[in-house]
Amino acid sequence: MTLPETEVTGAGPAAGPTGARPADPAGLGTPQPAWPHRHLLDTDALTWPQIELVLDTARHMGEIVAGARPRSTTLRGIGVTNLFYEASTRTRVSFEVAAKHLSADVVNVAVSGSSIEKGESLLDTMRTLEALGARVLVMRHAVSGAPYLVSREFRGAVVNAGDGWHAHPTQALLDLYTLLGHVPGGSLRGRKVVILGDVLHSRVARSNLWTLTAAGADVWLCGPATLLRGFEAWAAAGVGGARRFTVTTDMAAALADADAVMALRIQKERMASGLLPSLGEYVARFGLTRERLAATSPSCIVMHPGPMNEGVEIAADVATGPSSVVTEQVANGVAVRMAVLALVASAAGLSTGLPAPRLTGGAQ
Ligand code: CP
Repeated sequence: MTLPETEVTGAGPAAGPTGARPADPAGLGTPQPAWPHRHLLDTDALTWPQIELVLDTARHMGEIVAGARPRSTTLRGIGVTNLFYEASTRTRVSFEVAAKHLSADVVNVAVSGSSIEKGESLLDTMRTLEALGARVLVMRHAVSGAPYLVSREFRGAVVNAGDGWHAHPTQALLDLYTLLGHVPGGSLRGRKVVILGDVLHSRVARSNLWTLTAAGADVWLCGPATLLRGFEAWAAAGVGGARRFTVTTDMAAALADADAVMALRIQKERMASGLLPSLGEYVARFGLTRERLAATSPSCIVMHPGPMNEGVEIAADVATGPSSVVTEQVANGVAVRMAVLALVASAAGLSTGLPAPRLTGGAQ
C-alpha cells in the first residue's frame, strides 16, 4: 500500500513485544530494515542498517521541514513530553519543533516551578506525566543512566536527550547526518574525524564514537591528558570488531589532513579542580584557531554540538567561518529528531491518527 505523503508511519502492524514489525516503520515507501527500539537511550544499541534507517528517514523528514512535503500526521493524537532536568536550547527546542511537524501533542515540563522542586522522585514524575498523556518521553538528566531507569517502567517510548557524561544519541545521529552531507561520495569510510577538547565530560563524544566508528571513520580524540582519562584504555582494547580510534594529546598529529574537526565545549560546570591549569593555557594549547585549521584537509568542516565558548575551545572567526557547519547541525537536528520520534513511536505501537492510545498493564 502506498501511503499518503503525510503519513509517515502506520504502514501495517506496529512493532510490539510479540507483534510483527512493519516492513516500512518510517513510511519511506519501500521495505526497510526492522526498527526494534521502543526507546533510544544510546547509539551503542544501533546496528549500521538501523543507523542508515534513521538517516534515510531524516532525509524524508527534511523535505517536510523544508516545506517540500506537507506536515506529517504520524504522531497525531500522541503525547510527546519534553522533560528536561538540565539546561538546553538546541535539543529541547528541536524536539518540540520536530514533534509539532509530526502533529504530536507536545508538552514541555519546566523543572523550575514543578513538583520536582518539592522533592518528587524521577519515577513519580514519570508516572504523573504518563497519567497526563505522555506516550513519548524525551528526557535530559544530569545523572548518567537516569533515562534507563525511567525506560524500565514507562510504558511508552523514552528518548534520551542527554544523560550526565554518558550519552546524547540524537546529537550523534544529527552529527553523522551533517557529516555525510559534506564528505565526497557520502561515505565516511577512512575519513579522519577529530573530536577535540573536553572528551572526559562529553556525552556527545561517547555517543559519536559509536556512530562514527560504525560508519568506518578514522576517529581521533584529542585534548589534554586529564580530559582524555579512560579513553586510551578503551582505544587500546578496541570497541568491538573493526572499530578503532586514536587517542592523543598531540594537536598537530590529530589535525593533520583531518576531514572534520568537532570541537567540544569546555564544561566548566563539570570541571573538578585541577583538571586544567587554567583556561588561558587550554586556549593556548588546544583552542581551535584559523592557524591550526590550516593543517587540516582543504575541505575540512568544523563542527560543534553547542553551546560554544567562543574564544575558549573555538575561535570566534572559526565558529562562524566558511568551514563551520554549526548552524547546519542545529537545523538538521529537527529532521533527525522527527525520524527518531517516528521510529520509536512505531516500535512502541503508538498508532497514528487516533486519540492518545490507552496503555495496558497498569492503572492510568
Ligand atoms: N548540543 C546540545 O545538547 O545543546 P543544548 O544543551 O542547547 O541542548
